[in-house]
Amino acid sequence: MIFIEFNKINLMSCEEGMQKLIDKGIKFDLIITSPPYNIKDFHANQLKYDNYRGNDMNEAKYQEWQLQCLDLMYQLLKDDGSLWYNHKVRISKGKAIHPLEWLFQTDFVLKQEITWNQQKGANVDKTRCFPFSERIYWLTKNAKVKLFNKISAKDVWDIVPKHTRKDFNHPAVMAIEVAETIYKLHEDIYADKDEVLVLDPFAGVGTSFMPIINNNRYKYIGFDVDNSFIENFENRKLQIA
Ligand SMILES: C[S@@+](CC[C@H](N)C(=O)[O-])C[C@H]1O[C@@H](n2cnc3c(N)ncnc32)[C@H](O)[C@@H]1O
Repeated sequence: MIFIEFNKINLMSCEEGMQKLIDKGIKFDLIITSPPYNIKDFHANQLKYDNYRGNDMNEAKYQEWQLQCLDLMYQLLKDDGSLWYNHKVRISKGKAIHPLEWLFQTDFVLKQEITWNQQKGANVDKTRCFPFSERIYWLTKNAKVKLFNKISAKDVWDIVPKHTRKDFNHPAVMAIEVAETIYKLHEDIYADKDEVLVLDPFAGVGTSFMPIINNNRYKYIGFDVDNSFIENFENRKLQIA
């Protein structure tokens, strides 16, 4: 029997891992995730994603897969929980594909769309405006779920990623300030909880967990299919221990 550990990124596909967590009846307060974007063959993509699963799928299959994963996340989220789903508007064959195309097919309530203004990007062809932004969707099971925005965050987050691909040997690491902002927005909501459970199904090198690694009130579970990313996460943890 495969064992899923807390406070680890588990080497397992998230489909398998999330189903096991559902079978165990575990529910999460917070899910922060950034799935593969399926951009290998996309317009003016200048990066190489050879060893990175989920980036070269038929688009219809990709969206079907994301819907399957989002349904598992829905089942794993507490009724008062929040999912933060990072994606972007991609351009394929001259046409933009928006993440809301599949997000509106889920049971989630869309609470807010955040524009993450990265102020830089790999795609700078002159046939269109340069896409420098990503999206972060705040999704819940219930329209009444609230945040406490004590940091007066706006719906545009100006966060320039400071890391390079080489820092973590991963092609698509989220800026840690994005995760930090999400935790700050929930800080007062979780103030009375003895334990806060966090999930990242596509954990990569664990950016979603970095801000709470040393906070004993938080317990997390991640999944990834590439062991080298998990090892990089373990090294990353040692650097802040
Ligand atoms: C955009 S990256 C996530 C990066 C992460 N947010 C970070 O900052 O490190 C997506 C990750 O999903 C992983 N992945 C692809 N297919 C997967 C699957 N079926 N289950 C779990 N992880 C998967 C990839 O290996 C990759 O590390």
